[in-house]
Amino acid sequence: MDALSHKVALVTGAGTPSGIGWATAQALANAGALVVVTDVEHEPGPTADVGIDALAAAIRGQGGDAMAVPLDITDRAQIDRCVAMVSEHHGGVDVVVNNAGTSAGARPFLEITAAEWDASYRVNLKGTADVCQAVIPTMTERGGGSIVNVASTGGLGAEAGFGAYTATKHGVVGLTKTIAAEFGRAGIRCNAVCPGFVATRMHTEATERLAAAAAIPVDEMAARRYEAVAQGRASTPDEIAAVIAFLAGPAASYITGAAIPVSGGTPVGL
Ligand code: NAI
Repeated sequence: MDALSHKVALVTGAGTPSGIGWATAQALANAGALVVVTDVEHEPGPTADVGIDALAAAIRGQGGDAMAVPLDITDRAQIDRCVAMVSEHHGGVDVVVNNAGTSAGARPFLEITAAEWDASYRVNLKGTADVCQAVIPTMTERGGGSIVNVASTGGLGAEAGFGAYTATKHGVVGLTKTIAAEFGRAGIRCNAVCPGFVATRMHTEATERLAAAAAIPVDEMAARRYEAVAQGRASTPDEIAAVIAFLAGPAASYITGAAIPVSGGTPVGL
């Protein structure tokens, strides 16, 4: 039997085709879950035909089950409405993957603007915490559940130049442990995955930014970034999604409060 059949799984930030959330939604659907794919509503434009509706259609086209719900995790009222709607239609939520994130404020400390601090805090940390607060009561009612938060190797250690991102991802790891400690007896497990470099839009943009700052070609900057990685490369989104799906499912029944590097051996810094 599929590990997640008859389970309802909600994924935030799932609407970007190259992203970890997109790959995760597909991995959870492949494991048999009904997947609620959510993301902020993107401006109409050349990419308007992609996003959560396209993802839900792709999952259904492959024989899976999915529904698309627009959700900005910085808006608590939207989160509550989304969870209430899913609970009404499907009885509750069993799995949540807090994947939505922003690299705002990933820059040298003295250069971080107030707006970047706010965005980093509101999306990476408070948005993640709000989704957890909204789903835990329904998980408790159902006798348990599994929450997987997407942190970063920047949640385990620090290197220069990623200020607010590193600070808020450390917060995500602390939040993960707090929830694991408080709700273990309610049958709720909470873990974090800590990716290193993942070949997504966010990673490409960071490499481009660093290359511009160092006035070197992007390829050279990418090679420099991978030099210290034991496996010498970035991961694919699917490699992260596979670990998330494992943590979400019954094979990980005795893992909680863990922050697991999925990083090919990326050094975490200080
Ligand atoms: P991405 O930029 O492709 O995906 C991020 C998603 O979050 C997007 O779909 C975006 O629309 C969504 N999002 C942003 N603000 C939101 C909000 N307020 N409400 C709802 N959704 C929102 O980037 P990627 O790489 O797939 O990132 C996914 C997660 O993985 C993030 O939490 C990121 O910090 C983390 N991560 C990524 C790494 C990488 O190298 N790409 C490394 C370590 C962690």
